[in-house]
Formats: sequence, structure tokens, C-alpha cells
Amino acid sequence: MADPVLAPERHRDLAPAIAQAFDLFSAPLPSEGIDVERGYLDLLGGQDPTGTHPAQRLMVSRALPLIYQRFWRPLGGRLLMGLTGPGTAAEHRMALSMLSIEPGDRVLDVACGPGNFSRDFACAASDGLVVGIDASASMLDVAVRDTPSENVAYIRGDAGALPFRDGSFDAVCCFAALYLIEEPMRALAEIVRVLAPGGRVALLSSCERGPLPAGAANAIVHGLSGVRIFDRDELVRALIDDGLVEVQQQVMGLAQFLSGRKPEAA
Ligand SMILES: C[S@@+](CC[C@H](N)C(=O)[O-])C[C@H]1O[C@@H](n2cnc3c(N)ncnc32)[C@H](O)[C@@H]1O
Repeated sequence: MADPVLAPERHRDLAPAIAQAFDLFSAPLPSEGIDVERGYLDLLGGQDPTGTHPAQRLMVSRALPLIYQRFWRPLGGRLLMGLTGPGTAAEHRMALSMLSIEPGDRVLDVACGPGNFSRDFACAASDGLVVGIDASASMLDVAVRDTPSENVAYIRGDAGALPFRDGSFDAVCCFAALYLIEEPMRALAEIVRVLAPGGRVALLSSCERGPLPAGAANAIVHGLSGVRIFDRDELVRALIDDGLVEVQQQVMGLAQFLSGRKPEAA
């Protein structure tokens, strides 16, 4: 194990889960000026990596996080997956099933928003650790407010530059976010990098279904809103190219669920 990034005597000032998350960091943090005032660790300060398109700006607005879990996310799920697609509860069951979280596991929820999935993972991991990372301060304010579990640490950081050492997590989830992230393929590579040998990944993103030719729908929708539409095979190929095995894809409406596993170390 690498040296702790924060002097052990300062750990007592922090929520225990944030202190545990520190020990997974790949680079030391400054010993002064670490901002945990709002209940999450803020690694971004004045930086905002989320992009300038309307859908991206909504995620960092003050208003959307307040209605996100109750109204926006269920409605968005229906629009993406259709009326016959999974509802909120079924989607949560799918995430848990794809990740096969066991007690004691370390779980990363990338672009965790208001922690709506992180809290499920916290129950499944019991005495393990769940880290939710997101770039939106207003989403994380809601996440902190709504999460009583002591085994969850929230971090404000960029999905494209995860602060963790290689192989830190047994399971990594990224739901409803790759299509909003400015550099999704960089985030995907980071997700695979921080996954431990034998670890599982679960993704929910958008999927091209026609009738427009591949690429055309994305050019229009992304240009107008900032939401990216992935080609049907694009994310599957990226996961396989990054070395994952048992990659599975389920397409539902305009959405796709993907799961995969990092091979055990040779
Ligand atoms: C639609 S929410 C998804 C929340 C949750 N995972 C869910 O399934 O409901 C998308 C999230 O992606 C976050 N996000 C966008 N770009 C990001 C980036 N570069 N790094 C970290 N989070 C990012 C936004 O702040 C937002 O909270």
C-alpha cells in the first residue's frame, strides 16, 4: 500500500469514509486547504469540467438537483427506455445485479449525481466503502443531505481524471452520465483503470437506433443539447479494447445497459 496521502493525525477531522477514500488516491493532496466543508471533498474548486451545452449546464444548476430524483430522473428514464422499459426500482435492481456487490467491497459511482445509486451500493457493500464522484456541487449537496450511510464518501471531481490508484475498486458504476460527459471515452478508460482485477463495471447510456444514419442523430442532438448518442457498438468495442471480458449489452429504447469484468491478474 502506498503512503497515506493525508497525515494520519488529520484523519480524525474527517468523516471516516472520506478518510478511507483518501487512502485510495494516487497522488498526495496538499496537507492544508483541503475543502470538506460541504460534507464532500472538493477537488475542483473553481474548475468546472462539465461543458457548456444546455443539458450539461442544467446538471450544475441549483434548481435541477432539487427535483432530479423525484421527477427528472424517472421521466428521463421513461423517455430514454420507453414505456415498457424498466422503472426506477427495476433499474436499481439491474445495477446491483450487474455489479454483484458483496459486503466489504469498494464501489465507485462515477457521476453519482444526488447519490441515488450510491445509497443502494452502500447497503450492498455494508462494511465496505462506496465513493460517489461528480463534478456538480449542487448535485453533491443533495447527495450529502440524503445519505445517512457512514460508508459513503462523496468527492467533487472530474470523471475524466479520477484521483484513484489503478485497481482501487471492486465495482464501478456509471449510469445516465457518459452521454453528458465532455470526454466520455477518457472517462471510460479511467473507469477501467481504477477497476481491480476481477472487478465489475455497469454502465447505462444512450444508443443510436435510427432512423437517421449513424452519426447524424448525434451531430444534431449533441449540437443542440450536449447529449451524445453513441453508435450501437461504440461502447461495447471500447470496453473490449480496454481489456474487459464478459461484456454484455442490453438495448432498451434509446438506452443501453452494459456490463463487463476485468480479468483476474495472471
Ligand atoms: C443525469 S446525472 C446522473 C446521476 C446518476 N448517476 C443517475 O443515474 O441518476 C449526470 C451527472 O453527470 C455529472 N457529470 C457530467 N460531467 C461530469 C464530469 N466530467 N465529471 C464528473 N461528473 C460529471 C453531472 O454533474 C450529473 O450529476
